[in-house]
Amino acid sequence: SMQRTLVLLKPDTIQRRLIGDVISRFESKGLNIVAMKMLRVTPELSKKHYAEHVERPFYPGLEEFITSAPIVAMAIDGLQAIAVVRNMLGATSGLKAAPGTIRGDYSGSQQMNLVHASDGPEAAQRELDLYFDAAEFCDYDPVL
Ligand code: CMP
Repeated sequence: SMQRTLVLLKPDTIQRRLIGDVISRFESKGLNIVAMKMLRVTPELSKKHYAEHVERPFYPGLEEFITSAPIVAMAIDGLQAIAVVRNMLGATSGLKAAPGTIRGDYSGSQQMNLVHASDGPEAAQRELDLYFDAAEFCDYDPVL
């Protein structure tokens, strides 16, 4: 069925000038980008977004990283989009992600892994609400 997921192009994607390459992969896959914006994540937003990681030892470094430069936030629609996008990203660590995945092809880091995507329907709803107002979603018919 159709799903909507939240994707973040993290600061390393912007600083390495990989925005276009990463977005091209989602377009080539036939997914629909229905919202997109560049913003700076604040420490407050980071703590909300990564609520489940705030107590982890790696969280301080993660917050420093995610607030270090702008990000691009996108809402992406498609059939089974949540799992499809997660599969396109590859394993969390760029050191373990398979070749052919975005992280596998471009990242050699556990933390600077280029892209975030929601890991399930509840996370998608929660995370979409953190970054977008309802009026910002621009639905349209895909043309084949
Ligand atoms: P993401 O998919 O956005 O979810 C949590 C993020 O924390 C993850 O991508 C990485 O950027 C980061 N992360 C996860 N595990 C580790 C770790 N062991 N050490 C450092 N950063 C991590």
